Amino acid sequence: MSDLLNITIDGRPCTCEAGEYLYDVAERNGIHIPALCRSDAFEDHRACCRVCIVEVEERGRRKVVTSCVYPVERECTVYTNSEKIAEERAVTLALLSKRAPESETIAAMAREAGGAEGFDRLVTLDGEKCILCGLCVQACDSLGTGAISTVNRGVDKMVSTPYDKPSADCIGCLSCANVCPTGAIEYAQDATSRTIWNRTFELALCERCGSPMGTKDAVHRAAQQAGVEEPRICDACRKRELADEMMHTYRYV
Ligand code: SF4
Ligand code: FES
Repeated sequence: MSDLLNITIDGRPCTCEAGEYLYDVAERNGIHIPALCRSDAFEDHRACCRVCIVEVEERGRRKVVTSCVYPVERECTVYTNSEKIAEERAVTLALLSKRAPESETIAAMAREAGGAEGFDRLVTLDGEKCILCGLCVQACDSLGTGAISTVNRGVDKMVSTPYDKPSADCIGCLSCANVCPTGAIEYAQDATSRTIWNRTFELALCERCGSPMGTKDAVHRAAQQAGVEEPRICDACRKRELADEMMHTYRYV
């Protein structure tokens, strides 16, 4: 078993294993550190937004660190919202607001951080919500789909399908939209179809209640990967069916 360390975060004593990331220790102890690019679904994907900075005091010296990639190696005192951190986080969020002015999430975080002055001359990317954290690309890759990637350079850099055209590899599963921290990936859905990344997908509907179970492509892919038959009914109806079967069995034993 690795060494246990005693640290203090915002005055609260916490215990952690040596090497554990500071952000994770804080979260485990119910201490919230603002963050954008950290996702429980992709543990290794970190350090893109720098919103999660904190101040660490070790051996009498203070430094600002990115908590989601800072391994705790020795006993220390951590301040998640010191004056310095509040100022630097407000600047980071002001810059992110310039990059993604249409993101309500970032706007709300920037407001909460109190705002920062002096960025009026920076170019605002009109209509943009994406901070290029790459979580969506990772989500797509993790499914073996690889339908989206970052394309172009500089201010034109963005996440898209190849040549911004409908991708034959996309299965319309929404993994990208669901993992996006800024609400940048838009899609539309009606009773029978879903449109995302310029492609419209037919939905697989539960044969019993008619509710959507995902796109036909995504349901097919999931069944194929799991080596099972494609489901005809949704999870809720299957549970109801199982419960009915059990009731029926008990009634006749
Ligand atoms: S679309 Fe969302 S998840 Fe993808 S890079 Fe942009 S902010 Fe990150
Ligand atoms: S959450 Fe740590 S850098 Fe984004």
